[in-house]
Amino acid sequence: MSPDKDVKKYATPRVAAPDVKGERILSGMRPTGKLHVGHLWGVLENWKNLSADRRNKCFFMVADIHALTTEYAAPASLYNLSLEVVKDWLASGIEPDRAVIFRQSDIPEHAELHLYLSMITPLGWLSGCPTYKDQIKELKDRDLHTYGFLGYPLLQASDILLYKATAVPVGEDQLPHIEMTRQVARKFNSLYGGEKGIFPEPKSLITRYPKVPGTDGRKMSKSYGNAIYLDDESDVLRKKINSMFTDPEKIKIDDKGHPDGCVVFAFHKILAPGQYATCRHEECRLGKIGCVRCKKELLEFFDSALAPIREKRRRISDGDAAEILKKGASEAAETAVPTIKEVKKAMGLNR
Ligand code: TRP
Ligand code: SF4
Repeated sequence: MSPDKDVKKYATPRVAAPDVKGERILSGMRPTGKLHVGHLWGVLENWKNLSADRRNKCFFMVADIHALTTEYAAPASLYNLSLEVVKDWLASGIEPDRAVIFRQSDIPEHAELHLYLSMITPLGWLSGCPTYKDQIKELKDRDLHTYGFLGYPLLQASDILLYKATAVPVGEDQLPHIEMTRQVARKFNSLYGGEKGIFPEPKSLITRYPKVPGTDGRKMSKSYGNAIYLDDESDVLRKKINSMFTDPEKIKIDDKGHPDGCVVFAFHKILAPGQYATCRHEECRLGKIGCVRCKKELLEFFDSALAPIREKRRRISDGDAAEILKKGASEAAETAVPTIKEVKKAMGLNR
């Protein structure tokens, strides 16, 4: 098969729809700026599949209070950043009538549940959390020795438990937080839950592409400067793809390459999985293709995957996103308010 044929056919990343049904699903994302393809393939494809099945009830949240735990000193408007994130979600195909799309700070019950759960959460669960230690080391430019930052995973547990979610789609890095959520739920239930318990213990749903590489081969991340953004135009894509890390030993077309360590190949696998990628692997190893052509084809795949998203995003206004958040807030409250009533009663706080 010649890889030149039917390039377009392979252009949409295919993520196996996970066989998940009848779940209450909650997931969230911090509004830290524009989204890249790591979010698209690592998170949003999964959200899209889960919410496409009406047997699941989905809540997708802009975690603006979580953003404050690290960005508290930055002047950016978290409201505007939240609108941008929602626009990216919609452009990527998240359907607002299939999921409750809302902003964390619109529902004060998140903060309230966080406070109640803090009474039963041992400090060691928080200070021992691997993400806590990592982030403090990594984000050296700011002081994260705050009460709020220590409580980050507990706020996340509150997000999940407030909606009695049974399943949480996340990337691998978030697993310790879901595990802690389960611990908190278990402790709450054993203290106050009576026979039936109040909170389900949620399971994590790991996405199929948990780690999308950046142009330099490290994990794709805005802070590494190696990201490809959803709104990157063709010429930007071309520059980024040309700068991608390839096999340093493959210089001439007929040099035998090592596709497994090559970022271009990693993207071929995501964008053109199956026969196409297998074929490219062969050709590279046998020295039947050069990196210049290989990159050119990748650009075509990328461009046809991102063009419809760019198009759609242009048609969504701030007003549209604001409307969706408003509607989402009232829908989210319908679940959050009764849960808080139940929690207050269980903890002896009702009248
Ligand atoms: N901590 C998550 C992240 O950084 C975002 C998040 C906040 C979240 N609340 C959540 C994810 C609840 C899942 C469920 O990616
Ligand atoms: Fe990478 Fe393609 Fe070059 Fe092989 S031919 S090293 S897969 S860019």
